Amino acid sequence: MINKKIIIIGGGVIGLGIGWQLAKAGASVSLFERDQVGRGASWAAAGMLAPLAEAHTEETELLELGVKSLSLYPQWVDELETDAQICIDYRVDGTLIVGLEPDDTHQLSHLYAAQQQMDLDVNWLTGGEAREIEPTLSPRVTAAIHCVSDHQVDNRKMVNALQRAYLTCGGVLQENSSVEGIVIKDGTLTGVSAEDGTQKCDVVVLAAGCWSTQIKGIPESVRPPIRPVKGQMLALQMEEGVEVKTVIRTVRAKYPTSVYLVPRNDGRLIVGATSEEMGFDTRLTVGGIFELLRGAWEAVPGVYELPILDTWAGLRPGSRDNAPVLGKTPIENLIYATGHYRNGILLTPITAYEISKLIMTDETSEAIEPFQLSRFIKQ
Ligand code: FAD
Ligand code: GLY
Repeated sequence: MINKKIIIIGGGVIGLGIGWQLAKAGASVSLFERDQVGRGASWAAAGMLAPLAEAHTEETELLELGVKSLSLYPQWVDELETDAQICIDYRVDGTLIVGLEPDDTHQLSHLYAAQQQMDLDVNWLTGGEAREIEPTLSPRVTAAIHCVSDHQVDNRKMVNALQRAYLTCGGVLQENSSVEGIVIKDGTLTGVSAEDGTQKCDVVVLAAGCWSTQIKGIPESVRPPIRPVKGQMLALQMEEGVEVKTVIRTVRAKYPTSVYLVPRNDGRLIVGATSEEMGFDTRLTVGGIFELLRGAWEAVPGVYELPILDTWAGLRPGSRDNAPVLGKTPIENLIYATGHYRNGILLTPITAYEISKLIMTDETSEAIEPFQLSRFIKQ
């Protein structure tokens, strides 16, 4: 039991995950969410737990963090589903990364070599072998990598479960409550300013996703270098004859957008995603949706007949080096948990366990040490 009053800014998977772990340990936690919890990037995401597919092979520390977080998932799901009594549809079917043309196969073979170098659980397949695993794949698929250990969750169910678990463990939730800024006295943080006045606390966790830079009172040199990266998505309704079983990703050397198709237990097929530097603009575009539909149709021609259920766009919180910003800052008692970019769902368990441990013990673990803000601060 720790005797600290903690305020968390932002109710996405990151803020909720940390809040849940702290409340469970007996801390006094208040979470401020300016809208409804979990309707930012955490709602928009596809829920893939795929460390390598989302990181560049040269980003070894980020890859290691992702692999560690993936290994925590079985324990995380068990604990969360027990506390929340909500199933989050954790699936362990793996991912097929497919190519359709000789250029794509070339790109796939580079990826495969890097994966093998890192000793990842991957298999090279011919088109025919890939279709044995996933019969909905196009006859044009010439080669594939089977990433056996990639998993997925339904991220929207995870948001709902985290909210329930957080409240069940005694966390206080203030929805529709925006934090305007932090209050600092003599270099030490003393509270936050919110719509209904100043709230005193011992620790603030900044988990406001791509809006983290908008919090007032943080000196310029200490601001997390986070920007929004737009992703357009759509959901199709799977029907008899077009029942995709496994996550499919395309490698398309000639096109601007590679796509992924993620089947859900409820029959939806999530298709994503564009990656656009458009500031806070979340409008859907003809070009974006066209590229997604074309990519999905090329990999799985049967999608041509499927009804479109929904379209949306979300904003990934991207940092300058694609990795999250985690841990202590030069402002005493201000902790960052932001910038999870394309991997926030994957990285939720490690972030929640390690940041809550940091707050309870005042010690930064080896796992998050390379991801502190200090890497961006010039000495
Ligand atoms: P968010 O979920 O954005 O939450 C931040 C919250 O802070 C918001 O609810 C916001 O309202 C609140 N807030 C902001 N300012 C304030 C304030 N001043 N006061 C109070 N509250 C405030 N990751 C994966 O691992 N796998 C995937 O398959 C995947 N797919 C993705 C697909 C798309 C299209 C997108 C956009 C992202 C995807 N991601 C994926 C990335 C993942 O969604 C994010 O990294 C993750 O959700 C970030 O969580 P968060 O809690 O930091 O941010
Ligand atoms: N991780 C999938 C995406 O960011 O689109």
